[in-house]
Amino acid sequence: MIRRPRRNRQSETIRRLAQETTLSTDDLIFPLFVTEGTNKAVEVSSMPGIYRYSPDLLLKEIESCLKLGIKTFDIFPQLEESKKDKHATESYNSDGLYLRTIREIKEKLPEATIMTDVAMDPYSSDGHDGIVKDGKILNDETLVVLGKMALAQARAGADIIGPSDMMDGRVGYIRETLDDEGFTDVAIMSYSAKYASAFYGPFRDALDSAPKFGDKKSYQMNPANRREALIEAELDYAEGADFLMVKPAFSYLDIIQTLNENFPIPIAAYNVSGEYAMIKAAAQNGWLDGERAMLEMLLSIKRAGAKIILTYFAKEFALLQK
Ligand code: PBG
Repeated sequence: MIRRPRRNRQSETIRRLAQETTLSTDDLIFPLFVTEGTNKAVEVSSMPGIYRYSPDLLLKEIESCLKLGIKTFDIFPQLEESKKDKHATESYNSDGLYLRTIREIKEKLPEATIMTDVAMDPYSSDGHDGIVKDGKILNDETLVVLGKMALAQARAGADIIGPSDMMDGRVGYIRETLDDEGFTDVAIMSYSAKYASAFYGPFRDALDSAPKFGDKKSYQMNPANRREALIEAELDYAEGADFLMVKPAFSYLDIIQTLNENFPIPIAAYNVSGEYAMIKAAAQNGWLDGERAMLEMLLSIKRAGAKIILTYFAKEFALLQK
């Protein structure tokens, strides 16, 4: 035998030389949940190790992550039911929990890069990502709300805006709104191929944001479709997105690969709450080695073509690098 592939696997050093994909804390974005109150950290029951923090403790958490080398944070708000309405008006209330918190983080920890979420669901009394009328989700009317929300977030200091709702035309609408107000440097990471997935369950627990009726299939993509992701990505690219995201990540590695091969901007993947919960639950039962499963999951997402991974494992991963 002239060619023996095992020669390149014979020692740790040679294996490392031959290793094609590496993962670094620089690649990660840490999603965090903020809730009203002070000195409050409530663990999300379906996401062991992940908490909803009051703003003061959220700041502490970000500070400790910065020391570990995590630089970018994607923040989501959990609101009381009384703050929600049909038009998500709380989403652009500059004195509200979310925008107050973003301003405070940028003031006290300017080295943190902050990604914000643009979607109506945490603020919607219907639990949907768009305005609901007669049981239907209205597209163009929703864009107006998204524009106001994105602008308010940019004013609060957001570095990256993350439209996560899958309405048509939102990236272009938000880009134009931001540019008209002078926020030309605020980036857009578009949730381009976001699928109607069962793996968002624990996140909706964390935010109490599950739809009050129906499902999200009229705006989020059908998990059966790959080519359709090219249409979504093409539109977002043309409308000025700086990053294209695929979500969820682990069951959608082929989508990540497809977008990476077709678009010359960085591809991100959202390693969602359900993917985190699966590994945690299996590890707690002694059914999987949680640490090795996490590393393999993250590495495979990177190998598929994601340069950036949004993951609840970010802190755990960063701690392992120390
Ligand atoms: C909603 C949104 C969701 C997530 C991020 N933004 C849930 C949904 O679409 O219902 C899910 C993230 C996760 O599961 O970790 N705009």
